Amino acid sequence: MALIFGIESSCDETAAAVVRDGATVLSNSVVSQHELHAKFGGVVPEIATRAHLQRILPVIEKARDDAAVPWSDVDAIAVGHRPGLIGSLLVGVSAAKALAWSLNKPLIGVDHVQAHLYACHLDDAPPSYPALGLVISGGHTSLYHMADPLNITRIGHTIDDAVGEAYDKVAAMLELGYPGGPIVEQAAQHGDPDAIDLPRTLLEPTSLNFSFSGLKTAVLYAAFGQPVGRGKDARFTRTAADLSDRDRVNICASFQRAVSDTLTTKLKRAADQLADKATPVQTLIVGGGVSINKALRTALADFAASHDLMLRLADPQYCLDNAAMIAGLAEPLYAAGRVDGYDLPAEATSRLDA
Ligand code: KG4
Ligand code: ZN
Repeated sequence: MALIFGIESSCDETAAAVVRDGATVLSNSVVSQHELHAKFGGVVPEIATRAHLQRILPVIEKARDDAAVPWSDVDAIAVGHRPGLIGSLLVGVSAAKALAWSLNKPLIGVDHVQAHLYACHLDDAPPSYPALGLVISGGHTSLYHMADPLNITRIGHTIDDAVGEAYDKVAAMLELGYPGGPIVEQAAQHGDPDAIDLPRTLLEPTSLNFSFSGLKTAVLYAAFGQPVGRGKDARFTRTAADLSDRDRVNICASFQRAVSDTLTTKLKRAADQLADKATPVQTLIVGGGVSINKALRTALADFAASHDLMLRLADPQYCLDNAAMIAGLAEPLYAAGRVDGYDLPAEATSRLDA
């Protein structure tokens, strides 16, 4: 049982948190950089790195002040060291190493994707394992068999875009702003999910992999018509300015329904395939930024209820990138003696993708 200070800087959120015993969040400080990247329609790595450098120390101080614990009470320093943008990760990893060295505390490297799956433990009782895990974020859309929070096997993944990326690209196409997820969700609430016939890409009949690039292209054609010409000369007959508010909300609602149907169909396949296991899964755990989406949360709840699975979603404040999930997952790692040296690297890929 430990008091852990966590740091997260893998993409465009600078975050620090203090978590006790892997569950009780004493502080959760997050500063987003969305305003810096919005005009580019996506995260610009160099800008993100610089902003992390400017923000990391105040964010660390705030997390410690909010938790009101002295550094001497902290047992270990944890940091999200993979996956993510290397420049962004390096800022958090360097800060964590400096803290661990100067305070003479153990350093624990945490996998960000695994931490999204752990987020449902925060401020709540632990879920029952084994579990079927789903991560839906800006960089990942993957299914996992989870024997416990540390023993996880990937059983499916996207072969092209991640769900969050598709949300961001649909919002960009419709010129709705960045990040796209919350804007598309908001617009979808006012639209008809059956207005436009969009594909549910399911790949081969037993595949647990995902593909969202076809859906993205279908949205593009639904919005702007079939392109005239080929390659770089291709032109659309309509532009975002030609769309009515009704068109926009209907496209968003139809897109969101297609995403939701695709996710639940794949979950059904995974649940069916895992049913033969000696120890059947008891719980569906869903994490990642997209899991904050209310319509998807409702669809996941319906799915879990109809498949006799307990559903565990993180509290909304722990769905988007945060350091509480990093400090939380560090608890079982620390208990298992999984402590790292000062050579801990920043890495672009998740350990779970290996
Ligand atoms: O987990 P996260 O904060 O960062 C990554 O690890 O990628 O997820 C960010 C993604 C973005 O693509 C964002 O558009 C999406 O989560 N997102 C949402 C919503 N809020 C954020 N997607 C759907 N509905 C939302 N309300
Ligand atoms: Zn994330």
